[in-house]
Amino acid sequence: MTKAFVVGHPIKHSRSPLIHGFWLKTYGIDGSYERIEVEPVNFGNFLKGFHEQGFAGGNVTIPHKEVAFAGVMRRTERAERLKAVNTLWVKDGVLWGDNTDVLGFMANLDQNLGIAWEQHVETVLVLGAGGAARGIVAGLQERSFKRIVIANRTISKAQEIVRDLERYSTVKLEAVAWDNIGSVLPDAQLIVNTTSLGMAGQPPLLLDLDRAPDNAVVTDIVYVPLKTPLLAAAEARGLRIVDGLGMLLHQAVPGFERWFGVRPEVTPELRALIVADIEGGK
Ligand code: ATR
Repeated sequence: MTKAFVVGHPIKHSRSPLIHGFWLKTYGIDGSYERIEVEPVNFGNFLKGFHEQGFAGGNVTIPHKEVAFAGVMRRTERAERLKAVNTLWVKDGVLWGDNTDVLGFMANLDQNLGIAWEQHVETVLVLGAGGAARGIVAGLQERSFKRIVIANRTISKAQEIVRDLERYSTVKLEAVAWDNIGSVLPDAQLIVNTTSLGMAGQPPLLLDLDRAPDNAVVTDIVYVPLKTPLLAAAEARGLRIVDGLGMLLHQAVPGFERWFGVRPEVTPELRALIVADIEGGK
C-alpha cells in the first residue's frame, strides 16, 4: 500500500484528505492519505524521517513551506523561484520538492475560461503580496501578458516580488500602492484577489468595479465562502468570475500523480464533494 500525507500546524481543517481520498477510491488504488500535525520545532526531523516511516511523500502546508524548501535535496525550477515547497516525494533515494500552487492557479483559470482566454488579457491586477501572491505572479508571468501590476497595502512587499521575479520573463512587473488600485482598474482584464479580505470572518474587499473593463475576469483565491463579496459584486456588474476552490483541487493533481502513479482528474463530482464539506462547516 502506498502512503502519503499532508503535514501542517494546525492541520485539522485541511481538505486535502478529502480530495486525495476521493481519487484513491475513484481509481481503485490501494493507498492512504492522512493528516499529520507537526509543530515547527519537529518539522526538520519529520522531513528526514517520513520515508523510513513508509510514506512515499506528501503535501506541506502552513507554516512549513519555507522550511521544506530549505530542507529538500532537490527542487523543481518553480519551487526554486518561489522559495517555498508544498509537495514532497522521494526518487532514487533523493528527497524532492515542488510547488504546485502555481500550476493549480493557472489550471483553474484554463479549465474555467477555456484555452484561449489569455489572448484577451494585456494587464493583470494582482491584489496582495504574500506567499500566495508570489506563486500566482510566478504562474502568470509564464503566459503572454504585457504587464502584471501588484497592489499591496504594504507596497514594499509588492516591490520585493517585482525585484525577485522580474528576471524570469519579459512580462513587465509593476508594484502600485493600495490607494492607486483605481488607476489600474480601467486596464485590468484579469483581477486576482490573493489577500485574506473577503474570507469568512474578515472584512470584504471593496473595489470600484464600475471602473473595470466590461470584459474583465475577476478571480479570488479565497474559497470560504465560495462566492466572496468581491465575486458577488463582479457578477452583479456583469463580469466573468472564477472562484478559488478550483485552485485547491488542481494543486493536488501533480502530487497524487507522483505518489500513486495516476494523473487524476478534477471533475464536477469532486468539486461537489468539497462544496458540500464547505457548506456543512458553516
Ligand atoms: P498568504 O501567504 O496566504 O498570501 P500572507 O502572507 O499573510 O498570506 O498575506 C496576506 C495578504 O493579505 C497580504 O498581501 C496582506 O497585506 P500586507 O502585506 O500589507 O499585510 C493582505 N491583507 C491582509 N489584511 C488586509 C487588509 N485589511 N487590507 C489590505 N490588505 C490586507
